[in-house]
Amino acid sequence: MAQLWGGRFTKETDKLVYNFNASISFDQKFYKQDIMGSKAHVKMLAKQGILTEEERDQILEGLDGILRDVENGSLEITPEYEDIHSFVEANLIDRIGDPGKKLHTGRSRNDQVALDMKLYVRDEIDEIDGELKTLLQELLSLMEKNVHTYMPGFTHLQKAQPVTLAHHIGAYFEMFRRDRERMADIRKRMNLCPLGAGALAGTTYPLDREYTAQLLGFDGPTRNSMDSVSDRDYVIELLSALSTVMMHLSRFSEEIILWNSNEYGFVEIDDAYSTGSSIMPQKKNPDIAELLRGKTGRVYGALMSILTTMKGIPLAYNKDMQEDKELTFDAIDTVKGCLRLFAGMISTMEFRREVMEASAKNGFTNATDAADYLVNHGVPFRDAHGIVGRLVLLCIDRGISLDELPLEEYQKLSPAFQEDIYEAVSMKTCVEKRETYGAPGPEAMEKVIRENRKYLEG
Ligand code: ARG
Repeated sequence: MAQLWGGRFTKETDKLVYNFNASISFDQKFYKQDIMGSKAHVKMLAKQGILTEEERDQILEGLDGILRDVENGSLEITPEYEDIHSFVEANLIDRIGDPGKKLHTGRSRNDQVALDMKLYVRDEIDEIDGELKTLLQELLSLMEKNVHTYMPGFTHLQKAQPVTLAHHIGAYFEMFRRDRERMADIRKRMNLCPLGAGALAGTTYPLDREYTAQLLGFDGPTRNSMDSVSDRDYVIELLSALSTVMMHLSRFSEEIILWNSNEYGFVEIDDAYSTGSSIMPQKKNPDIAELLRGKTGRVYGALMSILTTMKGIPLAYNKDMQEDKELTFDAIDTVKGCLRLFAGMISTMEFRREVMEASAKNGFTNATDAADYLVNHGVPFRDAHGIVGRLVLLCIDRGISLDELPLEEYQKLSPAFQEDIYEAVSMKTCVEKRETYGAPGPEAMEKVIRENRKYLEG
């Protein structure tokens, strides 16, 4: 057990206590960030005359050596160190001796871990943003191909009005676009450097916090040293945003599961994203979509967990905050994996356009348009609504759609109906006349697609 704080203690830590307290098993994930932060700290100490240039160079070389050896596998991160900070410092001292003992000048593990976590989260935000962008590209190319793919739009899971597949997918485009915007907001707000806050009250060394912040790509130093070591708001914001990403993936997955069912038959999930049943030979199950839906729970769980952990913590640092890591790492890895799998699943999925169109026709999604036809011929809307309601009933009785009903049946209920009613209630008209901005009509849709393309290229 290599501990940094033996001096005040007369007894060895109990093994169980040691294990309970240690974080190396998970915080080793940010060895790179820890070394990066130490390098910036040391450069700043030398610039301020707190270390000599020679000491700085020895420490930098030692840190680079540790990074290299961890990455090439010749230096293993083992549980004999309490945490990643101890691991790096102990190895540095092993390598370069006394100058290594000066690394921690003007620094505490409290501001160090606050920094490491921020650097890690910041890198991951960029990666998640990349995954979201890839998904948006996939969605946009599906939209481009399906401007004329008619399908029923639903409310209450009842067929409502016809839309297009491009329009339906476009709704998800908006959701994932907002997710990216949330990532950018969080990144901006969190991008202040906590290093130099010390344990909680800053230090008496003449640190240049602006300089450290700049070296590490931050917009500046944090403004309050107590807040710096105890702020995990950005973790909460990230987990909240990730929960929203998962909620979106889950809704879309749920739709795909429905669409992939025998009853809908709108899509067929590729074999690569389906599994069979051990007993029922006919089955091809949408397991991947179901798992995507299911994994939402653990990301929500991470959010609730960190909110609960933080709620009773007095200022400043308390060990409770070590609990921020595992769940954040898990949520990040889960979301990245899910985004990748989801993009793969929809890019290989077959859309059965004829089934979608037939379903739109058979569900009287054009009934509103039949009523609008009457309104355009001088019938008040409320009367038109009643007339078309009766026509729908008649069609249900005969098992046909509105465009299959003979003209004389239409005319029995209203003489206003003429031959052109068939054109008025055709899927093509119903969809293609809806040209308000944001609607499924092809011109409106193409405009939004152009804007989305520009957004993705920008
Ligand atoms: N492993 C600790 C954490 O993750 C690092 C900070 C330790 N600081 C301390 N005073 N014990 O929060």
